[in-house]
Order: sequence, then structure tokens, then C-alpha cells
Amino acid sequence: MAKHLFENLDAHAMMPMPTALISCADREPGTSNIITLGWVGSLSSVPPMVGIGVKPNCYSHDLIQSAGEFVVNLPSEQLLEATDMCGVTTGAEVDKWALTGLTPSQASKLSKTPLIEECPVNLECVTRQVLSLGSHTLFLAEVVAIHADEAVLDGRGKLDIGKVRPINYFSFQYWPLGAELIGTYGMAAKKAKERIAEGGVSRKPMGSAG
Ligand SMILES: Cc1cc2nc3c(=O)[nH]c(=O)nc-3n(C[C@H](O)[C@H](O)[C@H](O)COP(=O)(O)O)c2cc1C
Repeated sequence: MAKHLFENLDAHAMMPMPTALISCADREPGTSNIITLGWVGSLSSVPPMVGIGVKPNCYSHDLIQSAGEFVVNLPSEQLLEATDMCGVTTGAEVDKWALTGLTPSQASKLSKTPLIEECPVNLECVTRQVLSLGSHTLFLAEVVAIHADEAVLDGRGKLDIGKVRPINYFSFQYWPLGAELIGTYGMAAKKAKERIAEGGVSRKPMGSAG
């Protein structure tokens, strides 16, 4: 099959991204803002780290930088309209809590930043490193607390993605979670072992000819 080589190197080729609502402390104590982000990802398990990419000209950028903390709130499909609103308005001009009807609630570890009550999953984050990448600044942060609505847990107390119904973001589009589970982590491990045992897939020892 022929491959198309893109002339524009567009980060939107990475698909899908979660759509997240980031709450961040505002300058006036007790006040806060919300920004919608697609450039959000988990980057490490121990310690649990996430990264967010924020444009320097966003009102939230300097707030996140000076507070040194933020909350990644994962909205469900029902919050799509509020999610879009927080991405097309600026906290420099509007109170996004009042605009969307979302409710701030007390975080457990962070002192300045509230959770968004209506979001089923909330990750409290403390910034560890800040990297200026170009169009966006990368805030690398440690997850210090995770909250979830009991309604989105499975029978073992783990997050059930089918109940969370997160919003996938791809190239300026919102996509629902596909309804079907198509596999689980490690499902191909047995087959890989069998193929390795059959032979012919080992790497040649270092320094051997050919
Ligand atoms: C779905 C969606 C995803 C977005 N992703 C990002 C992102 O990853 N990084 C970013 O800097 N802005 C992103 N934006 C744009 C900001 O949310 C937008 O500029 C917002 O108005 C900034 O708010 P603020 O000025 O209150 O900080 C996104 C917007 C939408 C709607």
C-alpha cells in the first residue's frame, strides 16, 4: 500500500487525545479558571507523572506556572458543551464557572486549586518541570491524588472507561468512546512466546557477521 508523505508536520496526527478540563488557581486567592486541553498525557507510572501542553498566550499559562499546581479533570460526554466553552473563551474576560455552571470543589492535597465536581475523574497535580517547547509550554507534573465518582468504578474498585465515557479529541473533532472492547493488555503475549519458541525471530548476537 502506498504511503502519503505529509508536507505539514502536524501534531494532530497523534490520535486520539483525551479532552481534559484543567482547573488552575487564579491570582486572587480563592478564585480559579478552567482551560480545555487536548495536549495531555500520562508519562510515567512511578512516580505517576502527566504532561500538559499550554500556549503561552493563554490566560491559564501564567496561572499554572505561578501556582505550581493544577488539576486534570476528565469530562464525560454529557459535559461536551461545557468542555468546548472552556476552550473558546478566556478567563481574562469571563468567569468560566458561572458560564458553564460547573462547580468547584475542595482538592485533598492541593491548597490553591479546586476540582471540577461534575467531572467523574480528577487528578491533582504538582508541577515538577517546565519546558518551553515552541508553540506550547510543557508542564510536567506529579499526580499526588486521584478522585473518581463511585458511579464510574467497576466491581473491583477500578475505573471503568465505559462508565466514564471520556471525550476523545482528534483534529478539532470530538469523538465518543467506541462501544466495543477489542482487546486487553498482554493478550498477544502467549502468541509471541509461541512464535519465539518456533524460532527465526531472535536478534543476531552482537558482533556476529551478517
Ligand atoms: C478541544 C480543545 C482542545 C484544546 N487544546 C489545547 C491545548 O492542548 N493547549 C492549549 O494551549 N490550548 C488548547 N485549547 C485552546 C484553549 O482551551 C483556549 O485557548 C482557551 O480559550 C484558553 O483559555 P484561557 O485564556 O482562560 O486560559 C483547546 C481548545 C479546545 C476547544
